[in-house]
Amino acid sequence: MAMCSQSHLQTISIPPPSTLFLSKPSFSSVSLRSHGFKCNNSLLSKHLETEPEPVLTSVKTFAPATIANLGPGFDFLGCAVDGLGDFVSLRVDPDVRPGEIEISSINGIGDSASKLSKDPLLNCAGIGAMSAMKMLGIRSVGLSLSLDKGLPLGSGLGSSAASAAAAVVAVNEIFGRKLSDLDLVLAGLESEAVVSGYHADNIAPAIMGGFVLIRCYEPMDLIRLSFPIDKELFFVLVIPEFKTPTKKMRAVLPTEIEMSHFIWNCSQAGALVASVMQGNWRRFGLALSSDKIVEPKRAPLIPGMEAVKKAAIDAGAFGCTIGGAGPTVVAVTDDEEKGKEIGYRMVDGFINKGGLKAYAMIQRVDRVGARVVS
Ligand code: HSE
Repeated sequence: MAMCSQSHLQTISIPPPSTLFLSKPSFSSVSLRSHGFKCNNSLLSKHLETEPEPVLTSVKTFAPATIANLGPGFDFLGCAVDGLGDFVSLRVDPDVRPGEIEISSINGIGDSASKLSKDPLLNCAGIGAMSAMKMLGIRSVGLSLSLDKGLPLGSGLGSSAASAAAAVVAVNEIFGRKLSDLDLVLAGLESEAVVSGYHADNIAPAIMGGFVLIRCYEPMDLIRLSFPIDKELFFVLVIPEFKTPTKKMRAVLPTEIEMSHFIWNCSQAGALVASVMQGNWRRFGLALSSDKIVEPKRAPLIPGMEAVKKAAIDAGAFGCTIGGAGPTVVAVTDDEEKGKEIGYRMVDGFINKGGLKAYAMIQRVDRVGARVVS
């Protein structure tokens, strides 16, 4: 969805999918057999008797941005956001050694292409694709992958998860969809664990779409929350020019919490889930705003965050919090026009109180998750 050319607001659009492969690519490759990835056939929901053969020679996939935590849902709640995300093009490549994967190209907005490694072991899409190949037991086919980043790196919008989600779904499509959503989340989680931490609240909604509750990690149990289709929800996403690496933002979290904060956060997380299922976005906003455990530790590390949150609420947002580990700040409303006003005020808050340039977007929920686009 569009947003906003006025004032300090800019528009971000999904870049066109890359169709180009370098004629003489500089490949970096890795053998699945030589690395001890945790994913293996024992994790599969259905055991595969034989190595699957490719049913497609190439595929292009897309996976959406995601908002993790949603306030009090730290590491166990997330939702997918419409209109923003990453693309992966994957093809069977006879020039790649069987059982291996190579990254042929990385394109994208901002500094993403120059900052990301083509080494599959160091790239979210590469790690996710390798995990999915490992799960499937692929030994006879080599793949090459092209990544097209639509999401800014380290923004709190699930950039690493979007790359991993698009990659695992692409591998699954090539080999005939043998993996379930749960398998795909586990494969993508291998990537998240390497780059930011063992949390599934970005990768699960990136793959499954909508709102996803992670009920349990061992064994993984995911609950997709249904919500009314006729009640509009808009996320106002305000992205400042600032970096908050997830690992750093996890390092500031408390190791012990007060019982009163525990009770409060549990009740708010329960209210968050109930309000999603009822489509009660006003109450959803109240719960979203209410985290007393994680947000208070992280907010001071994002210049202007408190003022931006206040600006959002003063402008009529139902609620406001940090998106994932930040620095994106997320407000919610049920009115798109009001969302624009909220966005302007939040951007001004970042500039005036935090000294940070920022831009805003208004997006709906993505109900589909990672999918094939061609
Ligand atoms: N739950 C994770 C965190 C999400 O807040 O650290 C990171 O995107």
